[in-house]
Amino acid sequence: MISARMFLDREFTKTPIDNRLFGSFIEHLGRAIYGGVYEPGHPSSDAEGFRGDVLELVRELRVPIVRYPGGNYVSAFNWEDSVGPAEKRPRRLDLAWRAVEPNTVGLNEFARWAKKAGTELMIALNLGTRGLDDARNLVEYCNHPGGSAWSDLRRSHGVKDPHGFKVWCLGNEMDGPWEVGYKSADDYGKLAAEVGKSLKLFDPKLELVACGSSNSAMPTYPQWEATVLEHCYDTVDYISVHSYFKNHDNDLPTFLADSLDMDRFITTIAGTADFVKAKKKSRKTINLSFDEWNVWFHSRDADALAAPWTVGPRLLEDVYTFEDALVVGCCLITLLRHADRVKVACLAQLVNTIAPIMTDNGGPAWRQTIFYPFLHASSFGRGEVLETLVRCPSYENKVHGEVPYLESVVTRDREAGTLTVFAVNRSARDELTLEATLGGFEKCELIEHLLLSNPDPKAANTRDAPDRVSPRRADSTRVDKSGLRSVLPRLSWNVIRLRCAEAGSPR
Ligand code: AHR
Repeated sequence: MISARMFLDREFTKTPIDNRLFGSFIEHLGRAIYGGVYEPGHPSSDAEGFRGDVLELVRELRVPIVRYPGGNYVSAFNWEDSVGPAEKRPRRLDLAWRAVEPNTVGLNEFARWAKKAGTELMIALNLGTRGLDDARNLVEYCNHPGGSAWSDLRRSHGVKDPHGFKVWCLGNEMDGPWEVGYKSADDYGKLAAEVGKSLKLFDPKLELVACGSSNSAMPTYPQWEATVLEHCYDTVDYISVHSYFKNHDNDLPTFLADSLDMDRFITTIAGTADFVKAKKKSRKTINLSFDEWNVWFHSRDADALAAPWTVGPRLLEDVYTFEDALVVGCCLITLLRHADRVKVACLAQLVNTIAPIMTDNGGPAWRQTIFYPFLHASSFGRGEVLETLVRCPSYENKVHGEVPYLESVVTRDREAGTLTVFAVNRSARDELTLEATLGGFEKCELIEHLLLSNPDPKAANTRDAPDRVSPRRADSTRVDKSGLRSVLPRLSWNVIRLRCAEAGSPR
């Protein structure tokens, strides 16, 4: 048995949480669109061909924003191909994923899907093969009410009201040699500044995301961010961050600690942005859009064998295990702890391709293991983050150094009058006793302790066994005047929800 102590106080509010921290991402990639969100003829599909079972699961996750349409796909995407009469749209070769894109689902259809899903879209622009002119035309097509060539074209396509997309990504992973049209930091920074300027001339309220490094191992990291921001600091609002985690060597202690890399990544990029801020003597702060993150490695070998140039190929179909869910949980805790600087984050992705939601031809959609930590964080992690001081033992790891057994964060929802403790026990051997003081919070009662644990770290949910890994209520938490005492099983994701008389009001 190992034990940890946590100290918190109702006065120690760290930061409000931007709801967009629980965003996601759908790319024209694999079966995300064709066979995922869109499958005409499926028993649950509506008249437009959108799967009702998928929509229901997306609504359950309460995803406030979805990044679209890529990803690598966007860097050679001609948006004009995806609008207008469907029968006249061209079939294109998608060079990023070596697939055929029929353009059956395009911008306006996907915007309708987003409305049904109760989410907003965050649109990525093609700054790979295209640039300034294309970007200014697209924003006019999407967001101008009418009376100009591009907005009238949208109206002629049956979309009378402007979409009003607020957040725009200035390209995708432009530092990556794999990207169609990749650029040096100087070239990209200049382009982002000019595109950003035009978009803000159109509407100063738009929120713009400049491309940061594709991952923290890139040879240009983090000089890329410094150079790019030198060019476009005054124009953009966020710098993007992307990270994918893998357990290729089947080394669980290292894999479970990979969220420490996410933590270092955020601190480094926030610091780099602040370095440019200081150099420019600016009063403006650039925040982070962590707009791609997840576990991704299970499908890589299968993907290498996939036949090219088909519509909706089976690509990136990772089947997630229980241990992946723990890593996703640690990442969600990390994002919440950094909610002062991370304002947007997108779990990559949402349906079928590296996704919490899976479908198979004909049958009902199911929840992968990683669905659950995301569901819990999105449902109960809204409001604000409380400062906590945590004392807990750690283990030594060759990649990450000293790793605490406990990964945790506490959030308060003033409206609901609740406190939520999110906690992962990384130990594969020992239960962890958590004792927390609840300074200034009185009359606290336990609402529930939700627990995801499994004797087999490799357990997964599949079409035939969709509920093998699913949460249950634990009875190992007590709350009284002296605080909270809980036992967290070995390798577990825990969500401990309290209602406190004073959680809603300031002292
Ligand atoms: O999410 C899958 C891919 O990962 C995206 O297309 C790309 O941006 C990243 O490399």
